[in-house]
Amino acid sequence: MAKPYFFPSVNLMGQGAIKLIPDEIKKMNVKKALVVTDKVLIEIGTTAQLFDTLDNENLEYVVYSDVKPNPTVNNVNGGYKVLKENNCDYVISFGGGSPQDCAKAIAILATNPGNIADYEGVNLTKNKSLPIVAINTTAGTASEATINYVITDETRNVKMVLVDSNCIASVAVNDPNLTVSMPKALTAATGMDALTHAIEGYLTAGATQFTDLFNLEAIKTISKNLKKAYDDGSNIDARDQMSYGQFVTGMGFSNGGLGIVHSMAHQLGGYYDLPHGVCNAIILPYVMEYNASETGDKMKTVAEAMGVCTEGMNKLEFDSACVNAVKSLSKSVNIPESFENMNVNKDDIDILAELALKDACTPGNPKSPTVDDIKMLYRKVF
Ligand SMILES: [Fe+2]
Repeated sequence: MAKPYFFPSVNLMGQGAIKLIPDEIKKMNVKKALVVTDKVLIEIGTTAQLFDTLDNENLEYVVYSDVKPNPTVNNVNGGYKVLKENNCDYVISFGGGSPQDCAKAIAILATNPGNIADYEGVNLTKNKSLPIVAINTTAGTASEATINYVITDETRNVKMVLVDSNCIASVAVNDPNLTVSMPKALTAATGMDALTHAIEGYLTAGATQFTDLFNLEAIKTISKNLKKAYDDGSNIDARDQMSYGQFVTGMGFSNGGLGIVHSMAHQLGGYYDLPHGVCNAIILPYVMEYNASETGDKMKTVAEAMGVCTEGMNKLEFDSACVNAVKSLSKSVNIPESFENMNVNKDDIDILAELALKDACTPGNPKSPTVDDIKMLYRKVF
């Protein structure tokens, strides 16, 4: 069946890609950028590489850096105010998923009326956002490559998922040099987020021959390189492969969808402000086990992409080998096996499950869950 596929128009990749940005900006007929980033990236000096690149070419910009991890509606409104006050006509996002998502929301508000909460859901805006140059510094959420973003509505403690092809970046940048300063815990969490995108994106009901191409490639690349990047953050080859792997699955899952690993993780991020990648990594093996009855022999392919020899295995065996491969990669980068000691509250399971069932990622799950199924899965991971 016919369907549209959305990708950033220009993709700058590899070591030194950041230096290619000015040439692309000059082609865009724009005057002044709002740079959306966070305070940590400014403090550790990562943003200096961007500011030097822009300054050297006399490209005008103002900076908005109040973005929190798990960005909020307040963050979006704050950035939008700075954009309007300074007459910015495009947005440069610089950072991991949080600045990227916040920047998408700001760029959407600049061309569409109302509040960002009005657009929670799928393709609810009429107009294309302001142009976005999306520079990724993690590996990663792949938000620089996708049509999705997530904003926390702090008044409801809810992570709103917005799927909107109008927010796709004009230029997406993945320069592994920007990722070398990531601490181990962030390397592990963002890397496992990327692996979750690839595996959920391959198993989702919305997967196609085209999206499989991206997601399977990403499973192979991330499985081979995450531990290397974790063990030695200065290993530029491993960083380069992780940048590539997270980016290709971004193009896959953005066009095929995800499943209830993300639905469940979104609620834990919204309720307890927990890191998105850690939530996914903990939940993923349990949801894979739950989905196994509906995934045919796809987990055999996933296991093989992760380097498991499945020769002679029956379905029960390769499903289990696949889940174990995920658990062991997660453990090797010190992700905990459950949410014990993370201040989650079993009394919240009913409401978390209700919210997860309504999440935009839920319809993509290979097995249609009931609210009781999701409660059971939360009980297992808590
Ligand atoms: Fe994710």
